[in-house]
Amino acid sequence: MTALTLSTAGAATLRADALVVGLAKSGKALVVAPGAEAVDKAFDGRLAAVLETLGASGAEGEATKLPSPAGLKAPVVLAVGLGAAPEDGESFDAETLRRAAGTAARTLTGTKKAAFALPILAAEDAAAVAEGALLGAYAYTAYQENADAKKPLAEVALLGAKPRDKAYKAAAERAQAVAEEINRARDLINQPPNDLTPAAFAAAAQAAGKEHGLKVQVLDEKALTKGGFGGILGVGVGSVNPPRLVRIAYTHPKAEKTLALVGKGITYDSGGISLKPAGHNETMKCDMSGAAAVFSSVVAAARLGLEVNVTGWLALAENMPSGSATRPGDVLRMYSGKTVEVLNTDAEGRLVLADALTKASEEHPDAIVDVATLTGAMVLALGNRTFGIMANDDDYRTAIHEIADEVGEQSWPMPLPADLRKGMDSPTADIANMGERMGGGLVAGLFLQEFVGEGITWAHLDIAGPAFHEGAPYGYTPKGGTGSSVRTLVKLAERTAAGEL
Ligand code: BES
Ligand code: MN
Ligand code: ZN
Repeated sequence: MTALTLSTAGAATLRADALVVGLAKSGKALVVAPGAEAVDKAFDGRLAAVLETLGASGAEGEATKLPSPAGLKAPVVLAVGLGAAPEDGESFDAETLRRAAGTAARTLTGTKKAAFALPILAAEDAAAVAEGALLGAYAYTAYQENADAKKPLAEVALLGAKPRDKAYKAAAERAQAVAEEINRARDLINQPPNDLTPAAFAAAAQAAGKEHGLKVQVLDEKALTKGGFGGILGVGVGSVNPPRLVRIAYTHPKAEKTLALVGKGITYDSGGISLKPAGHNETMKCDMSGAAAVFSSVVAAARLGLEVNVTGWLALAENMPSGSATRPGDVLRMYSGKTVEVLNTDAEGRLVLADALTKASEEHPDAIVDVATLTGAMVLALGNRTFGIMANDDDYRTAIHEIADEVGEQSWPMPLPADLRKGMDSPTADIANMGERMGGGLVAGLFLQEFVGEGITWAHLDIAGPAFHEGAPYGYTPKGGTGSSVRTLVKLAERTAAGEL
């Protein structure tokens, strides 16, 4: 893990391998962003001009490396674009800072220590820079022999952040806990599915539970059979790696509210008997991203000591075709007692989530939020970077949308149109696991809603788009697992703790 320090040292004298500065646009002119005055001075006030000569434009996502002049201890200066400068005395937008710091950290892969002289005017700015840097300094190398080439930036020193100021210290500690938990989720998502089986995922939850004082209970296939979890069992029955339902709970003695988080944990989604064709199955190890986000968010809540109970439910199964697999046409008796006709075994996420939602509802939490890479339809609707939010309560949906905005996660509210329910009518069972093709993401949401306990506030996040990033890395987003929704869930837990929700 990348180390984070707040430093009062001057940019010129600090011992580091690289100095990160911000480059912004002010009208047509390029300007060095506040925080890097000492660096600019070492260039005789010509840093912006030098960067312009090198082709820099100050655009977001841009990174320009140049050798340091005499007078700077660090041998290299890295300028990252910040886009348009805000009005005098105002902070840069948090997401701009986060992404710029992430770009810097990624560009500095292989470097040991970097000092970040970015514009930090308040504790929130320090939090954004820290978060971006720690998220950008991520590489998944567990399965590579020559991992040294991708060694993430080892140490981040934030200049301009006040190490003895309570607000700054708290911001840095929070950023570090949240970023480390996002990176935990990324590791789980990136781990190959031949190794991250449902049992291995459950073991990881048990280990983290031990480390952070969380109560972890694991229902194995025997317990699931005894309990009548027909949805989870029906999805997992085709695999040699049996399913699990994990409950991982953080409690605070002064908590007044309990938030339940439910995650889809399909460790591999082949589609089952309704097999996915080549071209659609290469990244399906990511189908446990919801469970990873839930797991990480519960641990983050514990590390932050939030005054709220957060109960995580991880619905873990592998969706495989075999002689024992569920067939299209089979009817499952769910944990709730409802029967489901499985028309398409590739609509498996809603089956495991349904059982977990019913189980979570039994404890009467104040709210349930489920997170899932649930539908390709949501990706068609919102693209690869935005998750959809559905809920049985408009205010709660709006609150989550606003929280996501605030923490720098792209999301959009989606409806649950009642008319789409009849498409799931089954001649044989209480409901089918598929409905109309049009609005497939909303159909899935309507299915889940049927398994939420009466009177419980519920929201559903479909993160199928942003959970796994296949393109080139950008900002603090690497290739592969992203940790989508963790920041939103942690902030949601904080708001719940504060009695604001
Ligand atoms: N895991 C997939 C959804 C998915 C698609 C996640 C793309 C990430 C990227 C899910 O289990 C699935 O296969 N959904 C089907 C449902 C359909 C059969 C009703 C889909 O969206 O095609
Ligand atoms: Mn599927
Ligand atoms: Zn799936």
